[in-house]
Amino acid sequence: DWIMGDYIEEAVAKIREQVGDEEVILGLSGGVDSSVAAALIHRAIGDQLTCVFVDHGLLRLNEGDMVMDMFEGKLHAKVVRVDASDLFLGELAGVSEPEQKRKIIGRLFVDVFKAEASKLKAANAGSKGATFLAQGTIYPDVIESGGAKSKKAVTIKSHHNVGGLPEQLGLKLLEPLRDLFKDEVRELGVALGLPRGMVYRHPFPGPGLGVRILGEVKKEYADLLRRADAIFIEELNNWIDEKTGKSWYDLTSQAFTVFLPVKSVGVMGDGRTYDYVVALRAVQTSDFMTADWAELPYGLLKKVSGRIINEVRGINRVTYDVSTKPPATIEWE
Ligand code: XMP
Repeated sequence: DWIMGDYIEEAVAKIREQVGDEEVILGLSGGVDSSVAAALIHRAIGDQLTCVFVDHGLLRLNEGDMVMDMFEGKLHAKVVRVDASDLFLGELAGVSEPEQKRKIIGRLFVDVFKAEASKLKAANAGSKGATFLAQGTIYPDVIESGGAKSKKAVTIKSHHNVGGLPEQLGLKLLEPLRDLFKDEVRELGVALGLPRGMVYRHPFPGPGLGVRILGEVKKEYADLLRRADAIFIEELNNWIDEKTGKSWYDLTSQAFTVFLPVKSVGVMGDGRTYDYVVALRAVQTSDFMTADWAELPYGLLKKVSGRIINEVRGINRVTYDVSTKPPATIEWE
């Protein structure tokens, strides 16, 4: 609408004024905030923006290709895709403690991003390289980092974000979404031409599948989990609630599959199986501080479990997580 059109024009003018003829880099994750920030900044300064997309090997099925198709293919933005999956999976080998896993993933992410930033600088001999780091910080993040949250005595989970990166890189910050709430960010994304599916996607944690594979992370586990999770998400999108006319994907705040590295006995045809277990998690919440498990229709659960067990060889049992937050958390690690 015209209000959003005006907003975009103003935001574009502000970015142009702030950046001038300098260069900007942005860590693109495929999540809503960094995607909308990238689209807006690209609208403003085109090729003065370089997006760095780090694939840590813990992304969802086809996620990397989807991000590249959108930003490079459709928006024609400059995107550097870094395949760092061997590095991440290598460093995670043998590590099973959740906080240690989170710290490793966070540290490697910063390392890889810094290395890419200096590579970009070296490649543009003569130019100063990027002088700005763009981030998709939104208003609730601004409040959170200065507010009650940082005073909490106990860390439940050390959240993975790129905090501290600008100082480490010696870059100025560009945060064009700082004044916006999540729903405004989504509207802006749609107005900028991003697909609704990308803009209304459930949140995905920075450490990705690293915190959805319990204990030690292995490529074999990640591959099984990606396939099972894709089935769950596909069926949530397909299953329309008659009362509201909405899909169960839209009726839940976050839904995903968790890989349990334990084996259970099953039967297939006239043979015995001894394979892995997954748990489905689907929650409804307004602020993610508390959450209720979703009362998914039994028919939907039946369809999902049938498909996972039949289509993903290596998984022979599917369970549904019926724990509220608190005392459980949304992610299992
Ligand atoms: P929990 O599991 O603490 O999750 O109930 C609350 C919300 O936060 C997300 N989450 C993260 N997001 N980096 C993120 O960007 C992280 O390290 C991280 N850990 C959890 C989680 O997916 C849920 O939406």
